[in-house]
Amino acid sequence: MAEAMEMLRPRPGGRYADGTVGGGGHAEALLRMSAPDGRVFACDRDGEAIEASRIRLGGFDDRLELRRCNFSELGAWVPDGVMDGVILDLGVSSPQLDWARRGFSLNKDGPLDMRLDDRQDLRAMDILEQWDERELSRIFFELGGERHARRYARAIAQRRGTLKTTMQLSQLIERSATGGWSPIHPATKVFQALRMAVNDELGSLERGLAAVWRCLRAGGRLAVIAFHSGDDRLVKHFGRRLERDYEIPADATEDVPELRRPKSPELRWVVRKAIQPSAEEVDHNARSRSARMRVMEKLAA
Ligand SMILES: C[S@@+](CC[C@H](N)C(=O)[O-])C[C@H]1O[C@@H](n2cnc3c(N)ncnc32)[C@H](O)[C@@H]1O
Repeated sequence: MAEAMEMLRPRPGGRYADGTVGGGGHAEALLRMSAPDGRVFACDRDGEAIEASRIRLGGFDDRLELRRCNFSELGAWVPDGVMDGVILDLGVSSPQLDWARRGFSLNKDGPLDMRLDDRQDLRAMDILEQWDERELSRIFFELGGERHARRYARAIAQRRGTLKTTMQLSQLIERSATGGWSPIHPATKVFQALRMAVNDELGSLERGLAAVWRCLRAGGRLAVIAFHSGDDRLVKHFGRRLERDYEIPADATEDVPELRRPKSPELRWVVRKAIQPSAEEVDHNARSRSARMRVMEKLAA
């Protein structure tokens, strides 16, 4: 939180967006630091998060616009080129993980749901029941980085029709696991991959970065906090494309020097490397351990 605010430098009169408002922590800091007349546009896919933020941020009604939507839709309600700062704090929140009925936690028994937005049809159960074994294996490997993806996909395919709860899934993976002792539960990566697939998190991030970028003014900053290496890689590559001082023709199949055309870079990294949480922060919030924050500034609107 402290580093994010230091990077975004909220000021009175500024306009800020929080694309992942969650419990409202970052949004509240943005509102306080931009007082008395800064404006904050905040959204979340999760209706319960919006309700929690509405209560927490009730005193800022005149300066806050709160909506339930995907941050990839930010462009539909925020004009282009006006934002001074945007924050995206990706993934799921602690309350979402703690509520068994949402199906995100492998330690608490709940339905195989995992939807961030409960208006959507696709649930984890549908993927487990309907996707073929090769597709399951692919998402476990690509989204979860799971080395035993094929083994777990096979075990699931063989138990179709019997898996109803998160505990049944985590116990099945535990029984199928072969590795030695590990500090993380053997089903951790499968759960992460399923959650990312249910919510199309990489797709949302890819569309969202482009949408958020359009909303920033020249000199505006974007801070993205990622907990997953796939998300972080996407952010890094997005930034690298825009920091280049050349472009390649749209129909070119590869990036070779002969095809490059000069252009002005659109972006500069505010910090070259991803910022990691301090030891103190990890001490009082163990879930922050794998967080990486990247911060970029728009050079031209
Ligand atoms: C780590 S929490 C954010 C916590 C928040 N920064 C706070 O201070 O309380 C992540 C939140 O992002 C939301 N989320 C994830 N992907 C989203 C997306 N594409 N669009 C909107 N909200 C999203 C989740 O529902 C969750 O509430």
